[in-house]
Order: sequence, then structure tokens, then C-alpha cells
Amino acid sequence: MSNNIYFPPSLQGFEPKRMVFSTWVDHLPFAYDLVAAIRPELIAELGVYNGLSFFTFCQSMVDHDIDGVAYGIDCWEGDEHTDAYDDSIYNEVVEHAREHYRGNTYLLRMFFNEALQHFNDNSLDLLHIDGLHTYEAIQEDFTNWYPKVKPGGIILFHDVMAKIKDFGAWKYFEELEQQYDDVFRFNHGFGLGVMRKEGGAPSDEPLLRLLFSKDEEDIKRLRQFYVHAGHFLEARRQATFWRQSRKGGKKGGQGKADQGKGE
Ligand SMILES: C[S@@+](CC[C@H](N)C(=O)[O-])C[C@H]1O[C@@H](n2cnc3c(N)ncnc32)[C@H](O)[C@@H]1O
Repeated sequence: MSNNIYFPPSLQGFEPKRMVFSTWVDHLPFAYDLVAAIRPELIAELGVYNGLSFFTFCQSMVDHDIDGVAYGIDCWEGDEHTDAYDDSIYNEVVEHAREHYRGNTYLLRMFFNEALQHFNDNSLDLLHIDGLHTYEAIQEDFTNWYPKVKPGGIILFHDVMAKIKDFGAWKYFEELEQQYDDVFRFNHGFGLGVMRKEGGAPSDEPLLRLLFSKDEEDIKRLRQFYVHAGHFLEARRQATFWRQSRKGGKKGGQGKADQGKGE
């Protein structure tokens, strides 16, 4: 990164079509750029909830003319960390998928273990693990789904810096960092772990080279870059919201949660 300019697609006018409250918000520019960089044929997400991360992957596929398919898997019942929720969340996600991503997005309402049978080994270009965050649950999800990922495919782990309650993604990810070579961690926004499965052809994509560079300076600057990208996106969203509120005479509601959909 030191001598090259890194100017990814998220800086060139990325406006999330889906904006709902989720701690995933800080990683949206990275998710958008990652999909543009790897051009996945097949994505699976374990844990969709209200779809913030999932629909960012989908949006990047559409914006970059990627002829792939994204599967979102969730029981849409909630778990010990999200608490139980009602069908309105699922219904809203279905509606958004129908409206924007008909044909390249499939929602599998089932438990992760039930969905396993629908995927071939070595088939996924991108796997996002974001279900229950206990150590045991992350270990189970990783162990079951790792064989489904292509050699050279990418696996994301959310909340690898969240050391609250009985969250254990941080501990499991620390162990993976010891065992595997191509592993990267964003520390901001509760943390996002990125891992590249061994094998596959090396990529020339700048983002992938930076992610798995062993250069301390590259790593530091990539982390800083996406902290700023997250803030920049949020500031732009706030400004848009403020302008729209003024036009429509709306008052208040400046918080992320209050803004609802950013469409
Ligand atoms: C942390 S939320 C997902 C957050 C989402 N990725 C976002 O962008 O905000 C976790 C979701 O995983 C689901 N979940 C947890 N364990 C599951 C399992 N074993 N099978 C199916 N769904 C599960 C819950 O219903 C919940 O909706």
C-alpha cells in the first residue's frame, strides 16, 4: 500500500440500498469492495437477521455485473444473543430481496446444519459466519462449513473483537490466526475476521494482496483505511438524511437506529 494508491469501488459513490440498525454497519464499504474484488459465483451467509451484511454483498454483485448467486441462511427465529424476534423481520427481508435481487438471491429459512446438504464441497467463493457468537457455535459453524469453501475462497467472521457476555468468536479467531497463514483482522466495529482458504490461484486484486500482505505497514494502513471509509459512509448518510429531513420538514431522528431504511 505504501507506494500504491488504493481507490476501491466503495469510494466511488457506494450508497447502501439497505440500511437498518446492525453492528455490521462499520464494515459495509469493505464488504462491498471484497465482493467486487473476488467476483464470487457462490456466496453463503450464515446469519442474515435483517440483512445488512447480506444485501451489501448482493448490491455489490449487481453493481459490478457479477453473475453469481447469494444464499442467505437463517432460521429467522433469533438466538441467545439477538433474542427471539417475530416474523416481521423475515417478511421485510423477503420483500427487499424480491424488490432488488430477484433471481440472484435465495433465502433459506432453516438451521445451518439443515442447509449444509444443499451445498457441494469446494463450491463457495465467499462464506460469512455470523450466527450465534459463542465459542462452541462458531467452532461448529466453521468446522461444518469450511469444506464447502473453494480452495482460495474467503471466509468472514463477524464480532471477532466483541469480548462481552459469552461471546467467543474472538477466542476462536485468535486460534485460527495461529493455525492459518492468510488471516486478517479488522479491529473496529466489533471486529471482522477475514480468512483465505489454502490453495487456489494467487489473486492480483489489490485488496486481496493487501489483506494477506505480511507487511506491518500495509496491514496498519488497510485497517485505518476501512475505519475512515466506515466514518465517511456514515457522515454521507447523515448528511443525506439531514437534507431530506429539511426538504420534507421532518424533525429529529438523527441516530442510526432511527433512520430506518436509507433508500
Ligand atoms: C448476529 S445475527 C446476524 C446479523 C446480520 N448478519 C447482520 O448483518 O446484521 C445472527 C442470526 O443468526 C441466526 N441463527 C443463529 N444460529 C442459527 C442456526 N444454528 N441456524 C440458523 N440460524 C441461526 C439468528 O436467528 C440470527 O438472526
